[in-house]
Amino acid sequence: MTGSAVERAERRTRREVVSFVRRSNRMRPNQRRAWETYRDRYVLDVARLGTSTSVHPATAIDLIEVFGRDAALIVEIGPGAGESLIPMAAARPEVNVLALEVYQPAIARMLSGLARTGLDNVRIVEADAVAALEYLVPAGSVDEIWSFFPDPWHKARHHKRRLLTSEFAALAASRLRPAGIWRIATDWGDYADQIREVLDNDPFLGNLYPNCWAPRWDARPITHFEQRGLDAGRQIFDLAYRRVG
Ligand SMILES: C[S@@+](CC[C@H](N)C(=O)[O-])C[C@H]1O[C@@H](n2cnc3c(N)ncnc32)[C@H](O)[C@@H]1O
Repeated sequence: MTGSAVERAERRTRREVVSFVRRSNRMRPNQRRAWETYRDRYVLDVARLGTSTSVHPATAIDLIEVFGRDAALIVEIGPGAGESLIPMAAARPEVNVLALEVYQPAIARMLSGLARTGLDNVRIVEADAVAALEYLVPAGSVDEIWSFFPDPWHKARHHKRRLLTSEFAALAASRLRPAGIWRIATDWGDYADQIREVLDNDPFLGNLYPNCWAPRWDARPITHFEQRGLDAGRQIFDLAYRRVG
């Protein structure tokens, strides 16, 4: 990695509008305990480029080595406390699941759940998924990407913070293997429309349900976020795309 490439990445990190709020990472005592006890087992050490959610472009992580095996790879973007990730990873012990999450207290809760279920096919990166996908996940290496209930940023003035832009779609598509699948769900209709427009226009993604929404994916458990949307009377929109080209 050249000095100027790192400088470019540094400038970008400083200027970037991110899809998350930089909240305090203060943890409750039980979360702190889980973090301290299980962090080494599940959370990957990543070199930073300034902020605690950045990833240094020269970071080299060998995913086969960290999972201890070469297996199909699923990446979940923003799993929160792992409410859907944990049961879904438990249901598929033959796959490796890489969780990209920025919020440390949520990761601590995920660690408690992982330890309780004794799962060994999950690893976590505490970082912005944009940098993590770009610098840690090799192109063409991912079998499935999951993005369930990405922060909706529903006020018009906040739309610029939405994660699923055309730039992010191009990055995610590049990480999928040929025929790899990207599954998305949201409870905000205008975000669903935006995601469909952006992904339909990506030359490397093919909509599995071109003229309608995807059916609800049975494997996906209902999380608190989904339930909150349902309780508020919102419709749930599922989308599914395949890497083409
Ligand atoms: C609304 S929550 C949904 C959590 C979970 N997927 C669910 O359905 O219960 C969105 C999550 O995405 C995380 N997040 C937002 N932007 C992110 C980013 N750029 N990289 C990684 N995680 C992100 C937030 O910290 C939060 O945990």
